[in-house]
Amino acid sequence: MLTEKQTPAIIDLPKYLDNRGNLSYIEEDTHLPFRIRRVYWIYDVPGGESRGGHAFRSTEELIVALSGSFDVVLNDGEKEYRFSLNRSYYGLYVPSMMWRLIENFSTNSLALVIASTDYSINEYIRDFNEFCRIKKNEKVGI
Ligand code: TYD
Repeated sequence: MLTEKQTPAIIDLPKYLDNRGNLSYIEEDTHLPFRIRRVYWIYDVPGGESRGGHAFRSTEELIVALSGSFDVVLNDGEKEYRFSLNRSYYGLYVPSMMWRLIENFSTNSLALVIASTDYSINEYIRDFNEFCRIKKNEKVGI
């Protein structure tokens, strides 16, 4: 289980390598720093497209490249992080209030997203300047 909830991090998931095919899994209590409320997946992304381009006010996520590869670009208002996900046994923990963009999807890639909240339009911040403003105000305690 992760300890630092403010920082994006790669979580090493278990992997059972087997001549019959490999197996990995995620257990809520063992691997996630949040309770699971929702699972969704992104697939059939046309070449050159990107997804995301927003932040969530309180939703935390774990993103796994179940198939293929893609890049997750995160920004906390000050610092940018880029993670290339290309193995199904790595999960990227994305804290709340992180600007995030997913790009460079390979053909037939499949992004699994495990989320800590139900879907709500009110969770989304879609304007980067507004996001930076909120982060700045958080920092000075407004
Ligand atoms: P959205 O999160 O905006 O996609 P992206 O950030 O990757 O561009 O989701 C696209 C649409 O899908 C959104 O308008 C509503 C719907 N949606 C749900 O109904 N439930 C969900 O859990 C998610 C993630 C999206």
